[in-house]
Amino acid sequence: MLEAYSRAWAEIDYDAIAHNCDEVQKIVGSTKIMGIVKANAYGHGDIACAKALRDWGVDFFGVSSVDEAIGLRQGGIEENILILGYTPEEHFHYLHEYNLVQSLCSYAYAKKLNQYGKENHCVIRAHCKVDTGMNRTGVIYQTQEKHMEEILAEYQLEAVSVEGIFSHFPVSDDLGEDAKTFTKKQIDLFNEVLANLKAAGINPGVTHLQNSYGILNYGSLGYDYCRPGLLYMGVTSDDTIPIASNPDFIPILSLYANVSVVKWLQPGMTVSYGRHFTVKKPCKVATMSIGYADGLPRIVSNQDLHVLVHGQACPIIGNVCMDQCMIDVTDVENVQEGDTVCIVGLQGGKRVTIDEISRKAHTINNETLSALAARVPRLKKRG
Ligand SMILES: Cc1ncc(COP(=O)(O)O)c(C=O)c1O
Repeated sequence: MLEAYSRAWAEIDYDAIAHNCDEVQKIVGSTKIMGIVKANAYGHGDIACAKALRDWGVDFFGVSSVDEAIGLRQGGIEENILILGYTPEEHFHYLHEYNLVQSLCSYAYAKKLNQYGKENHCVIRAHCKVDTGMNRTGVIYQTQEKHMEEILAEYQLEAVSVEGIFSHFPVSDDLGEDAKTFTKKQIDLFNEVLANLKAAGINPGVTHLQNSYGILNYGSLGYDYCRPGLLYMGVTSDDTIPIASNPDFIPILSLYANVSVVKWLQPGMTVSYGRHFTVKKPCKVATMSIGYADGLPRIVSNQDLHVLVHGQACPIIGNVCMDQCMIDVTDVENVQEGDTVCIVGLQGGKRVTIDEISRKAHTINNETLSALAARVPRLKKRG
C-alpha cells in the first residue's frame, strides 16, 4: 500500500496512547493494563498500538484470535498475549509454538486442549473464563446456576496451565439501577469464585474483569489487570452515555480525504445515486475521495453529517458511494481540488468526532472504528 496522504487516510497519534494510559491508571489505581488490540486495535493498527502500549509499560495484550496473536508476534511483540476468543483444534499447535495464552471457552474445550497437550507432550497456557452474566463464553457461574466444580477441574488439568481467571461485563456502560445491580452482582460472583479457589488451596493466577466502561464506572476494584480497548484510543462507545468518572482522553484517530472536484450546481439538479438530494439554490459541491468501502457508512447519507473543509463544517449531501461522496461547500471560500477534508479530528480549531458518525449510523464507535477498511493507510500523526 502507498504510504501516502493521497486519497483517504487515517492519522493515528500513537504518542497520545501514553497519556490515555495515564488517565486509565489514575482511575484503576494499582491494577495493571492489559491492552486489548483485537480487530487491528479497532482499526488503529494493532502492532503500532501494541508497541506504544508496551513502551508505556503494558506487558499483556488481548486479541480475538490466534491469527491476530501470531501477527503481533511477527510484528515483534514478545509480551504475554491472551486469545479472548475461540481457537479451533487444528490451530492448537500455534498456541504452543507462539507461546500464547488461550482463554478457556468451556470446560469441554479445556479438556480438548488438555488432550492435545498430553498427546503432544506440551503444556498449553490458559486463563479460565468465568461466565458471570454475559452468556457468551466461559463456565457459567451465576445466581441460578453455578459450575464451580468445572472451574476447579480446569485448574487440575495436567497439560493446561491455568495462569489466570477473568469474566466480562455486558452492561457496565449503563448507570441505571438495574444495570448497576447486575454488574455489582457479577463482581460478587467473580469474587466468590476467587474465594472458592483459594479455599480449595488453588492459586487463581492473575485476575481481570474490567473493560473500558467497567473502568470508567467501577474504578479501582483491586484485580491484577483491567482490559481496556477503547480508552487507550481516547474514545468511549458513545460520548453521550453518562459515565461516573471524568477522564481527559485524547482521541488518537483522525480521518481525512482529498477534494477531487469542485463544481456549482443549479436548482433542480440532483446529487449521487438514487437522486436523494435536490439542489434548492445555487450550490457549490465538492466531491471527496472517501466512501463506504473505506468505512464511511452508507447509512450516513443525507443525514446532515458534517465534515470540515478549511476548518468550516460542511454537510455530506446525497448518497455516500463506494469510494467517494459529495459535500456542500457553498459557504467555504477557495475550495480546490487537493484540499484536505477532515472527517474525524481537528481542523482550524473545530473538531468532528467519530461519535457523530456512529450516531448517524445507529451504532457505537467500537463498530465504526473497527470497520475502517484495510485500504485506508494508517499513518503516524504528523507534527
Ligand atoms: C473480553 C473482552 N475484554 C475487554 C474488551 C475491551 O472492551 P472495551 O473496548 O470496551 O474496553 C473486549 C471487547 O469487546 C472483550 O471482548
